Amino acid sequence: MPERPYVIDEMISAKAIAARIEELAGEIRHEFADTDKLVVVGLLRGSFVFIADLVRELNLPIEVDFLEASSYGNAMQSSREVRILKDLRGAIEGRDVLVVEDIVDTGHTLNHVSGMLRSRNPARLRTIALLDKPSRREVDFRSDWIGFEIPDEFVVGYGIDFAQRNRNLPFIGKVRFTDAEG
Ligand code: IMP
Repeated sequence: MPERPYVIDEMISAKAIAARIEELAGEIRHEFADTDKLVVVGLLRGSFVFIADLVRELNLPIEVDFLEASSYGNAMQSSREVRILKDLRGAIEGRDVLVVEDIVDTGHTLNHVSGMLRSRNPARLRTIALLDKPSRREVDFRSDWIGFEIPDEFVVGYGIDFAQRNRNLPFIGKVRFTDAEG
């Protein structure tokens, strides 16, 4: 299928992201001040830039692990099946865990992943997402920390892709298709 032409309009600048991460890191440091070691779990692939910047602001003893999940819509049942494509390398029982996600959209992914990780009996489990699109929610899920609430727009950059492209943009931008404009 030929690619539709689009441009990317900046929505959240690199500077605004950095400032927000500093604030969030302060809250996380406070929450986990007494931890012996925090397992920071990045959800692949969209969180890889966010987790890299976040952990460098944390100043806590941490470990980093990754998990990859993929969600498939089922229009017939208006439901989603979330599959784990790559599980954690380490055990989290009795450990402090922070799950790091790029966007909470329908909520299925983070809801499923945090439920699954909670069943492994971590000491504390918290979630953080850089972006939240509350108007798109299909399941009752709230992340403990959110960087920015955004409207129902398709966004890219800062690790987030559109058909595997644009992950390397330093800011968050929204995709605007130019063939649909009059
Ligand atoms: P959820 O399960 O619907 O909450 O989906 C979350 C996942 O959908 C995110 O981790 C992203 O990979 C993807 N996603 C949702 N919105 C966007 C977007 O605007 N741009 C790129 N990916 C998105």
